[in-house]
Amino acid sequence: MSETQSTPPSGPRWYYTVSAVVAAIALVIVAFFASQHYFGALMPGDDGRRGESTAPAIGGPFTLTDQDGNTVTDADFRGRYKLIYFGFTYCPDVCPTTLTTIAQALDMLGEKAEAIVPILITVDPERDTPEQLKMYVSHFSPRMVALTGTPEQIAKVAKEYRVYYAKVEDEGGNPDAYTMDHSAITYLMDPDGTYVRHFSHATTAEQMAERLREVVESAPTS
Ligand code: NI
Repeated sequence: MSETQSTPPSGPRWYYTVSAVVAAIALVIVAFFASQHYFGALMPGDDGRRGESTAPAIGGPFTLTDQDGNTVTDADFRGRYKLIYFGFTYCPDVCPTTLTTIAQALDMLGEKAEAIVPILITVDPERDTPEQLKMYVSHFSPRMVALTGTPEQIAKVAKEYRVYYAKVEDEGGNPDAYTMDHSAITYLMDPDGTYVRHFSHATTAEQMAERLREVVESAPTS
């Protein structure tokens, strides 16, 4: 007849409640870090380095039309670094900000900027004719190249650069007042056309200039 035989085998109720709460917190922490790792791999940071080891190739051959109406291909830009940005001239906000950043960053580089060509590729070929592009980019920098093409040519180059874009119709039904939803990433491609890094639209001109300087200065002199 022992006292312990009559004691219930289980602990007090609060023990289970605390255990459940601790387990739930641990699960949330694990899920958080797992998602950071997963999305971090998908969306490399601003410097692009995290994505380099696993990133599939970005970029590829293209045939487009420049702001003077000339047919140009990727081969015409061989031998120089390229800062490639996809946007459109009717963009109210992000595109002009980014193109201003690019122009300012290149100005900060002085002579070294000659190794880099800034290129705007339109995602709105319907409205962005060579004439329209020429007027637009002249507001930012005399060295800026602007490219348009047929809808098929634009779709092909956007796919190669993994750029998303889509037409957003005007809510009032005006067929000419549509806007474009699009990725706002600036790619730095090397003289051979290989992806080096990218910049988000939040990058400042100072940051971009500093990073461009590092890349251009570390390049082997030919
Ligand atoms: Ni834009």
